[in-house]
Amino acid sequence: MSKQKIKAIHGTRDILPDEAQSWQKVIATVSRVAVSHNYGLILNPIFEATELFARGIGETNDVVTKEMYTFTDQGGRFLTLRPEGTASVVRAYLEHSLGADSGVVKVWYAGPMFRQERPQAGRYRQFYQIGVEAIGSLDPALDAEVIGLNHRILDELEIRDLSLEINTIGMPADRQAHRESFVKFVRPILGNFCPDCKRRFGINPLRMFDCKEASCRENLAGAPVVYDFLSRENLGHFEEVLGYLKLAGVPYQVNKKLVRGLDYYTRTAWEFKSACLGSQDSISGGGRYDLLSEQLGGPLTPGIGFASGMERILMAMPDRGRTKRTDHFGFFVAVRDPGFKSEAVKLLYSLRKRGIAADTDYLGRSLKAQMKQANKSGYRYAVILAEDEMARGRVAVRNMIDSSQFELNLSDIYNIGNEQELGELIEKRPE
Ligand code: HAM
Repeated sequence: MSKQKIKAIHGTRDILPDEAQSWQKVIATVSRVAVSHNYGLILNPIFEATELFARGIGETNDVVTKEMYTFTDQGGRFLTLRPEGTASVVRAYLEHSLGADSGVVKVWYAGPMFRQERPQAGRYRQFYQIGVEAIGSLDPALDAEVIGLNHRILDELEIRDLSLEINTIGMPADRQAHRESFVKFVRPILGNFCPDCKRRFGINPLRMFDCKEASCRENLAGAPVVYDFLSRENLGHFEEVLGYLKLAGVPYQVNKKLVRGLDYYTRTAWEFKSACLGSQDSISGGGRYDLLSEQLGGPLTPGIGFASGMERILMAMPDRGRTKRTDHFGFFVAVRDPGFKSEAVKLLYSLRKRGIAADTDYLGRSLKAQMKQANKSGYRYAVILAEDEMARGRVAVRNMIDSSQFELNLSDIYNIGNEQELGELIEKRPE
């Protein structure tokens, strides 16, 4: 049998405890802000019928043609690890008739997504998204609510160098009008574009605006934009959204060349960027998808939402999302004389039973090493079981913050109800 170490798959990563603390903070913040805006949690399956994404994201979209993890199960069904969350939410909305009695349905979610992209800093093959969807209204004030919610979350997480770019990509009729003029502009200079842009020109020319190549961007400097081909209604919608954003105090920049990478988008589209992220600077992306419900076999139902990449959020948080534990808590039960092992375990169980955080040594280490471990793990106190004190029914307690040491009756420690009472017992101890 091979003894070679097995590593995580290229493009996937482990979130280790220091980083996981920030990860939990992100989830807690999203949950709190989402709930305060009346968004309920939804949990969708991680794999779905391949057709859901083909129809939802678009048959010719890069994510669908090149990046999906698709497989057949034992029944020969085509299944795909979800590359994003919106299609699943809308499927669930239709499958469970969620809009039937509640008007606008507002949900949030968090979970892993899968795309077979070329891994690099901030771009993974399994990544974690937090997202929000609001389905059932075309009100521009709802656009501003969702964008405001997106802003609020990133702001509360103190994302560095944050900016919001917003645009409208209209409806298919607006885009059809734009397409003719855009194609006319690009055709004579098509030879100057990268292979990806040339391919997009034949499929969905608008996506050429998404190219990161500097020369392609220069070539498109004077290209016509959808904005200039909008119907009065769609332009009006966008102007109202901007008005509400001003009202909400959300700073933005209109970028008329902003397009999104999934085909279901209509009207409002936006991205939050963080300048500290390098080339993968999009921390959040969202927009309206007013035709998606219909594409998935449901009635015409407008929707809007966004998703943020957890890995990018962590990278753009203070200290790059690595939090050292600073809040000291609980008790480390140490033994100086190994004969007190069972007493230590008994005390450990008793503390934990009362909801008091506690741990002990499982490696038979010296008292010095046990104190080191207690310190490293952030314990506030160490209770030391040693022969001299135990003979008097007492234990030594060391304050791990200032290294002061005092004695308490072991029976008193057993009698207190919770961590707060234990704190009071320590504070009121006779000197
Ligand atoms: P998206 O722009 O494809 O939109 O992804 C949203 C966010 O997920 C990105 O801004 C980025 O932070 C993160 N992300 C995407 N791909 C990767 C990757 N390979 N590695 C790391 N992070 C990544 C959507 O997924 C839409 N479902 C958002 C949405 C919800 N639109 C409406 N509702």
